[in-house]
Amino acid sequence: MKKSLLALSVVAASFALFGCNKPAEAPKTAAGETKTAAELPKIGVVIYKGDDNFMSFVRNAIEKAGAGKAAVSVLDSQNDQAKQNGQIDALIAKGVKALAVNLVDPAAAASIVSKATAAKIPVIFFNKEPAADVLKGCAQCWYVGTTSSESGVMQAKIIADSLKAHPEWDKNKDGKIQFVLLKGEPGHPDAEARTKYVLEEMSKAGLKPEQLELQTGMWETAKANNLMDAWLAKHGDKIEYVIANNDGMALGAINSLQAKGYFKDPSKFMPVVGVDAIPDALAKIKEGTMVGSVLNDAKNQGAATVELAINAALGKAPTEGTAWKLDESKSVRVPYVNINKDNLQLAEDVYKK
Ligand code: GAL
Ligand code: CA
Repeated sequence: MKKSLLALSVVAASFALFGCNKPAEAPKTAAGETKTAAELPKIGVVIYKGDDNFMSFVRNAIEKAGAGKAAVSVLDSQNDQAKQNGQIDALIAKGVKALAVNLVDPAAAASIVSKATAAKIPVIFFNKEPAADVLKGCAQCWYVGTTSSESGVMQAKIIADSLKAHPEWDKNKDGKIQFVLLKGEPGHPDAEARTKYVLEEMSKAGLKPEQLELQTGMWETAKANNLMDAWLAKHGDKIEYVIANNDGMALGAINSLQAKGYFKDPSKFMPVVGVDAIPDALAKIKEGTMVGSVLNDAKNQGAATVELAINAALGKAPTEGTAWKLDESKSVRVPYVNINKDNLQLAEDVYKK
Protein backbone atom coordinates (compact mmCIF):
# COMPACT_ATOMS: atom_id res chain seq x y z
CA MET A 1 0.00 0.00 0.00
CA LYS A 2 2.63 2.42 1.16
CA LYS A 3 4.79 1.47 -1.79
CA SER A 4 2.09 2.12 -4.35
CA LEU A 5 1.23 5.46 -2.72
CA LEU A 6 4.85 6.45 -3.02
CA ALA A 7 4.88 5.30 -6.60
CA LEU A 8 1.76 7.31 -7.27
CA SER A 9 3.19 10.43 -5.71
CA VAL A 10 6.35 10.08 -7.78
CA VAL A 11 4.19 9.81 -10.88
CA ALA A 12 2.13 12.78 -9.69
CA ALA A 13 5.28 14.79 -9.04
CA SER A 14 6.64 14.05 -12.46
CA PHE A 15 3.33 15.02 -14.00
CA ALA A 16 3.44 18.20 -12.00
CA LEU A 17 6.93 18.90 -13.29
CA PHE A 18 5.99 17.97 -16.80
CA GLY A 19 2.81 20.00 -16.40
CA CYS A 20 4.88 22.96 -15.36
CA ASN A 21 7.17 22.65 -18.33
CA LYS A 22 4.45 21.99 -20.80
CA PRO A 23 2.65 25.36 -20.65
CA ALA A 24 6.04 27.10 -20.96
CA GLU A 25 6.88 25.06 -24.04
CA ALA A 26 3.50 25.26 -25.75
CA PRO A 27 3.22 29.06 -26.20
CA LYS A 28 6.77 29.12 -27.41
CA THR A 29 5.89 26.90 -30.36
CA ALA A 30 2.63 28.73 -30.91
CA ALA A 31 4.20 32.16 -30.64
CA GLY A 32 7.05 31.08 -32.92
CA GLU A 33 9.68 33.71 -33.62
CA THR A 34 8.84 36.20 -30.89
CA LYS A 35 9.62 33.73 -28.18
CA THR A 36 12.74 32.54 -29.96
CA ALA A 37 13.98 36.10 -30.45
CA ALA A 38 13.63 36.76 -26.74
CA GLU A 39 15.98 33.88 -26.07
CA LEU A 40 18.72 35.04 -28.43
CA PRO A 41 21.74 36.76 -26.88
CA LYS A 42 21.15 40.52 -26.71
CA ILE A 43 23.86 42.52 -28.44
CA GLY A 44 24.01 46.32 -28.23
CA VAL A 45 25.67 48.11 -31.15
CA VAL A 46 26.58 51.79 -31.33
CA ILE A 47 27.67 53.43 -34.60
CA TYR A 48 29.55 56.72 -34.48
CA LYS A 49 27.46 58.44 -37.14
CA GLY A 50 24.45 56.93 -38.87
CA ASP A 51 24.77 58.88 -42.11
CA ASP A 52 28.40 57.89 -42.72
CA ASN A 53 28.41 56.27 -46.12
CA PHE A 54 30.71 53.32 -45.42
CA MET A 55 29.32 52.70 -41.92
CA SER A 56 25.81 52.33 -43.31
CA PHE A 57 27.09 49.25 -45.18
CA VAL A 58 28.79 47.92 -42.06
CA ARG A 59 25.50 48.38 -40.23
CA ASN A 60 23.63 46.39 -42.89
CA ALA A 61 26.22 43.64 -42.66
CA ILE A 62 25.89 43.53 -38.87
CA GLU A 63 22.12 43.24 -39.06
CA LYS A 64 22.28 40.59 -41.76
CA ALA A 65 24.92 38.49 -40.00
CA GLY A 66 23.08 38.79 -36.68
CA ALA A 67 19.64 37.81 -38.03
CA GLY A 68 18.33 34.70 -36.29
CA LYS A 69 21.46 34.40 -34.14
CA ALA A 70 21.29 37.43 -31.87
CA ALA A 71 18.86 40.15 -30.82
CA VAL A 72 20.82 43.10 -32.17
CA SER A 73 19.91 46.71 -31.30
CA VAL A 74 21.82 49.30 -33.33
CA LEU A 75 21.96 52.93 -32.15
CA ASP A 76 23.24 55.99 -34.02
CA SER A 77 25.57 58.07 -31.83
CA GLN A 78 25.22 61.09 -34.17
CA ASN A 79 28.91 61.95 -33.93
CA ASP A 80 28.51 62.86 -30.27
CA GLN A 81 30.64 60.98 -27.73
CA ALA A 82 28.53 62.11 -24.76
CA LYS A 83 25.48 60.72 -26.54
CA GLN A 84 27.29 57.45 -27.20
CA ASN A 85 28.26 57.12 -23.53
CA GLY A 86 24.58 57.54 -22.59
CA GLN A 87 23.55 54.93 -25.16
CA ILE A 88 26.06 52.49 -23.71
CA ASP A 89 24.66 53.07 -20.20
CA ALA A 90 21.15 52.45 -21.53
CA LEU A 91 22.16 49.25 -23.35
CA ILE A 92 23.87 47.93 -20.23
CA ALA A 93 20.76 48.74 -18.19
CA LYS A 94 18.67 46.88 -20.80
CA GLY A 95 20.71 43.76 -20.10
CA VAL A 96 22.76 43.33 -23.28
CA LYS A 97 25.21 40.46 -23.06
CA ALA A 98 27.83 42.07 -25.31
CA LEU A 99 28.54 45.50 -26.79
CA ALA A 100 29.86 46.31 -30.25
CA VAL A 101 31.27 49.83 -30.24
CA ASN A 102 32.23 52.05 -33.16
CA LEU A 103 33.72 54.94 -31.20
CA VAL A 104 32.99 58.58 -31.93
CA ASP A 105 36.24 59.65 -30.29
CA PRO A 106 39.00 57.02 -30.17
CA ALA A 107 40.14 58.53 -26.87
CA ALA A 108 36.84 57.55 -25.22
CA ALA A 109 37.68 53.83 -25.33
CA ALA A 110 39.08 53.70 -21.79
CA SER A 111 35.97 55.10 -20.13
CA ILE A 112 33.72 52.73 -22.10
CA VAL A 113 35.91 49.83 -21.06
CA SER A 114 35.49 50.73 -17.39
CA LYS A 115 31.68 50.91 -17.70
CA ALA A 116 31.54 47.55 -19.49
CA THR A 117 34.02 45.88 -17.16
CA ALA A 118 32.04 47.03 -14.11
CA ALA A 119 28.93 45.43 -15.66
CA LYS A 120 30.93 42.32 -16.72
CA ILE A 121 30.01 42.87 -20.36
CA PRO A 122 32.46 42.09 -23.18
CA VAL A 123 33.17 44.76 -25.81
CA ILE A 124 33.97 44.33 -29.48
CA PHE A 125 35.29 47.65 -30.77
CA PHE A 126 35.02 47.97 -34.54
CA ASN A 127 36.10 50.27 -37.39
CA LYS A 128 37.77 52.91 -35.17
CA GLU A 129 40.71 51.29 -33.45
CA PRO A 130 41.21 52.07 -29.76
CA ALA A 131 44.72 52.56 -28.39
CA ALA A 132 46.58 49.24 -28.05
CA ASP A 133 47.08 49.59 -24.28
CA VAL A 134 43.32 49.98 -23.72
CA LEU A 135 42.61 46.67 -25.46
CA LYS A 136 45.48 45.00 -23.69
CA GLY A 137 44.27 46.17 -20.30
CA CYS A 138 40.77 44.77 -20.78
CA ALA A 139 40.36 40.98 -20.62
CA GLN A 140 36.97 40.97 -22.36
CA CYS A 141 37.72 43.44 -25.17
CA TRP A 142 38.63 42.87 -28.82
CA TYR A 143 38.82 44.83 -32.06
CA VAL A 144 37.52 44.18 -35.57
CA GLY A 145 38.84 46.35 -38.38
CA THR A 146 41.71 46.50 -40.82
CA THR A 147 45.39 47.23 -40.86
CA SER A 148 44.96 50.94 -41.59
CA SER A 149 48.37 51.45 -43.18
CA GLU A 150 47.62 48.78 -45.79
CA SER A 151 45.01 51.00 -47.48
CA GLY A 152 47.54 53.83 -47.92
CA VAL A 153 50.11 51.45 -49.35
CA MET A 154 47.55 49.98 -51.74
CA GLN A 155 46.25 53.38 -52.81
CA ALA A 156 49.83 54.39 -53.69
CA LYS A 157 50.06 51.28 -55.85
CA ILE A 158 46.94 52.33 -57.79
CA ILE A 159 48.47 55.80 -58.27
CA ALA A 160 51.83 54.40 -59.37
CA ASP A 161 50.26 51.95 -61.84
CA SER A 162 48.01 54.65 -63.29
CA LEU A 163 50.92 57.03 -63.80
CA LYS A 164 52.93 54.32 -65.49
CA ALA A 165 50.05 53.84 -67.92
CA HIS A 166 49.50 57.63 -68.25
CA PRO A 167 52.78 59.53 -68.03
CA GLU A 168 50.91 62.51 -69.56
CA TRP A 169 49.14 63.01 -66.19
CA ASP A 170 52.35 64.76 -65.08
CA LYS A 171 50.89 67.74 -66.93
CA ASN A 172 53.73 70.18 -66.39
CA LYS A 173 56.31 67.46 -67.07
CA ASP A 174 58.41 68.34 -64.04
CA GLY A 175 58.73 64.72 -62.93
CA LYS A 176 56.71 65.47 -59.77
CA ILE A 177 53.07 64.84 -59.01
CA GLN A 178 51.28 67.92 -57.73
CA PHE A 179 48.50 66.55 -55.56
CA VAL A 180 45.66 67.66 -53.33
CA LEU A 181 44.67 65.35 -50.50
CA LEU A 182 41.28 65.06 -48.84
CA LYS A 183 41.91 63.72 -45.37
CA GLY A 184 39.36 61.89 -43.19
CA GLU A 185 38.71 62.79 -39.58
CA PRO A 186 41.97 63.97 -37.95
CA GLY A 187 43.04 61.58 -35.19
CA HIS A 188 41.14 58.69 -36.77
CA PRO A 189 43.70 55.87 -37.16
CA ASP A 190 42.50 55.21 -40.75
CA ALA A 191 42.81 58.87 -41.77
CA GLU A 192 46.23 59.28 -40.21
CA ALA A 193 47.65 56.05 -41.61
CA ARG A 194 46.18 56.44 -45.09
CA THR A 195 47.61 59.94 -45.40
CA LYS A 196 51.03 58.97 -44.13
CA TYR A 197 51.41 55.75 -46.11
CA VAL A 198 50.03 56.88 -49.44
CA LEU A 199 52.59 59.72 -49.54
CA GLU A 200 55.46 57.61 -48.21
CA GLU A 201 54.82 54.86 -50.72
CA MET A 202 54.47 57.32 -53.58
CA SER A 203 57.89 58.69 -52.67
CA LYS A 204 59.33 55.19 -52.44
CA ALA A 205 57.95 54.47 -55.92
CA GLY A 206 59.86 57.54 -57.15
CA LEU A 207 56.75 59.56 -57.91
CA LYS A 208 57.92 62.73 -56.09
CA PRO A 209 54.60 63.84 -54.63
CA GLU A 210 54.31 67.62 -54.20
CA GLN A 211 51.55 68.81 -51.93
CA LEU A 212 49.38 71.67 -53.17
CA GLU A 213 46.67 71.19 -50.53
CA LEU A 214 45.90 68.84 -47.65
CA GLN A 215 42.82 69.40 -45.52
CA THR A 216 40.17 67.36 -43.78
CA GLY A 217 36.84 66.76 -45.44
CA MET A 218 35.77 64.67 -42.40
CA TRP A 219 34.95 61.69 -44.67
CA GLU A 220 32.03 63.73 -46.14
CA THR A 221 31.04 64.27 -49.76
CA ALA A 222 29.68 67.80 -49.26
CA LYS A 223 32.76 69.04 -47.38
CA ALA A 224 35.06 67.55 -50.02
CA ASN A 225 33.01 69.15 -52.79
CA ASN A 226 33.50 72.59 -51.18
CA LEU A 227 37.22 72.06 -50.63
CA MET A 228 37.69 70.94 -54.22
CA ASP A 229 35.76 73.99 -55.47
CA ALA A 230 38.18 76.22 -53.58
CA TRP A 231 41.27 74.30 -54.69
CA LEU A 232 40.24 74.34 -58.33
CA ALA A 233 39.65 78.08 -58.11
CA LYS A 234 43.12 78.53 -56.62
CA HIS A 235 45.23 76.00 -58.56
CA GLY A 236 43.14 74.95 -61.56
CA ASP A 237 45.02 72.58 -63.84
CA LYS A 238 48.17 72.74 -61.71
CA ILE A 239 46.49 69.95 -59.76
CA GLU A 240 47.62 66.61 -61.18
CA TYR A 241 46.10 64.10 -58.77
CA VAL A 242 43.25 64.07 -56.23
CA ILE A 243 43.88 61.64 -53.39
CA ALA A 244 40.99 61.01 -51.01
CA ASN A 245 41.12 59.03 -47.76
CA ASN A 246 37.69 57.60 -48.62
CA ASP A 247 35.27 57.34 -51.52
CA GLY A 248 32.69 59.63 -49.93
CA MET A 249 35.17 62.50 -50.33
CA ALA A 250 36.42 61.30 -53.73
CA LEU A 251 32.81 61.53 -54.93
CA GLY A 252 32.59 65.11 -53.62
CA ALA A 253 35.75 66.01 -55.55
CA ILE A 254 34.32 64.42 -58.71
CA ASN A 255 31.09 66.45 -58.32
CA SER A 256 33.16 69.60 -58.11
CA LEU A 257 35.31 68.62 -61.10
CA GLN A 258 32.26 67.77 -63.20
CA ALA A 259 30.71 71.13 -62.38
CA LYS A 260 33.89 72.77 -63.71
CA GLY A 261 33.63 70.87 -66.98
CA TYR A 262 36.02 67.99 -66.26
CA PHE A 263 35.47 64.53 -67.78
CA LYS A 264 33.41 65.88 -70.71
CA ASP A 265 36.16 64.88 -73.10
CA PRO A 266 39.51 63.10 -72.67
CA SER A 267 41.48 66.36 -72.82
CA LYS A 268 39.83 67.53 -69.59
CA PHE A 269 40.70 64.74 -67.18
CA MET A 270 41.68 64.65 -63.52
CA PRO A 271 42.71 61.43 -61.79
CA VAL A 272 40.83 60.81 -58.53
CA VAL A 273 41.42 57.89 -56.18
CA GLY A 274 39.57 56.83 -53.02
CA VAL A 275 39.22 54.07 -50.42
CA ASP A 276 36.19 51.85 -49.53
CA ALA A 277 34.98 50.78 -53.02
CA ILE A 278 31.36 51.63 -52.16
CA PRO A 279 28.83 51.14 -54.99
CA ASP A 280 28.69 54.85 -55.97
CA ALA A 281 32.46 54.84 -56.40
CA LEU A 282 32.34 51.61 -58.39
CA ALA A 283 29.91 53.30 -60.77
CA LYS A 284 32.44 56.15 -61.24
CA ILE A 285 35.27 53.70 -61.85
CA LYS A 286 33.10 51.98 -64.43
CA GLU A 287 32.29 55.24 -66.21
CA GLY A 288 35.96 56.26 -66.06
CA THR A 289 35.70 59.34 -63.80
CA MET A 290 37.54 57.62 -60.97
CA VAL A 291 40.85 55.77 -61.34
CA GLY A 292 40.34 53.22 -58.60
CA SER A 293 39.64 52.53 -54.95
CA VAL A 294 40.69 50.18 -52.19
CA LEU A 295 38.02 47.78 -51.00
CA ASN A 296 37.24 48.25 -47.32
CA ASP A 297 35.28 45.07 -46.75
CA ALA A 298 32.12 46.20 -44.95
CA LYS A 299 30.49 42.79 -45.24
CA ASN A 300 33.25 40.84 -43.52
CA GLN A 301 33.91 43.55 -40.94
CA GLY A 302 30.21 43.55 -40.01
CA ALA A 303 30.05 39.76 -39.93
CA ALA A 304 33.20 39.42 -37.82
CA THR A 305 31.93 42.03 -35.37
CA VAL A 306 28.67 40.15 -34.80
CA GLU A 307 30.25 36.72 -34.68
CA LEU A 308 32.79 37.79 -32.06
CA ALA A 309 30.09 39.60 -30.08
CA ILE A 310 27.82 36.53 -30.04
CA ASN A 311 30.63 34.27 -28.87
CA ALA A 312 31.64 36.75 -26.18
CA ALA A 313 28.00 37.12 -25.09
CA LEU A 314 27.79 33.34 -24.66
CA GLY A 315 31.01 33.24 -22.67
CA LYS A 316 32.92 31.45 -25.44
CA ALA A 317 36.32 32.33 -26.85
CA PRO A 318 35.63 35.21 -29.27
CA THR A 319 36.67 33.48 -32.50
CA GLU A 320 35.43 29.97 -31.59
CA GLY A 321 33.77 28.27 -34.55
CA THR A 322 34.50 31.23 -36.86
CA ALA A 323 36.94 31.77 -39.73
CA TRP A 324 38.52 34.76 -37.95
CA LYS A 325 41.97 34.90 -36.35
CA LEU A 326 43.05 37.30 -33.65
CA ASP A 327 46.47 38.91 -34.00
CA GLU A 328 48.82 39.70 -31.13
CA SER A 329 46.87 42.90 -30.43
CA LYS A 330 43.57 41.00 -29.92
CA SER A 331 42.30 42.20 -33.27
CA VAL A 332 40.67 40.68 -36.32
CA ARG A 333 42.01 42.52 -39.36
CA VAL A 334 40.02 42.10 -42.56
CA PRO A 335 42.27 42.59 -45.59
CA TYR A 336 41.86 45.46 -48.07
CA VAL A 337 41.78 44.71 -51.82
CA ASN A 338 42.79 47.02 -54.66
CA ILE A 339 39.91 47.72 -57.04
CA ASN A 340 40.13 49.07 -60.58
CA LYS A 341 37.90 48.67 -63.60
CA ASP A 342 39.14 45.12 -64.20
CA ASN A 343 38.03 43.58 -60.89
CA LEU A 344 34.97 45.69 -59.98
CA GLN A 345 32.86 42.58 -59.60
CA LEU A 346 34.70 41.61 -56.46
CA ALA A 347 33.65 44.79 -54.68
CA GLU A 348 30.14 44.68 -56.14
CA ASP A 349 29.65 41.30 -54.50
CA VAL A 350 30.79 42.57 -51.12
CA TYR A 351 28.37 45.50 -51.20
CA LYS A 352 25.40 43.56 -52.51
CA LYS A 353 22.47 44.16 -50.17
C1 GAL B 1 36.75 54.34 -42.50
C2 GAL B 1 36.06 54.48 -43.84
C3 GAL B 1 35.48 55.86 -43.96
C4 GAL B 1 34.61 56.18 -42.77
C5 GAL B 1 35.33 55.91 -41.47
C6 GAL B 1 34.42 56.11 -40.30
O1 GAL B 1 37.22 53.03 -42.36
O2 GAL B 1 36.99 54.26 -44.87
O3 GAL B 1 34.74 55.99 -45.15
O4 GAL B 1 33.49 55.35 -42.83
O5 GAL B 1 35.86 54.60 -41.47
O6 GAL B 1 35.01 55.76 -39.10
CA1 CA C 1 53.97 67.53 -62.34
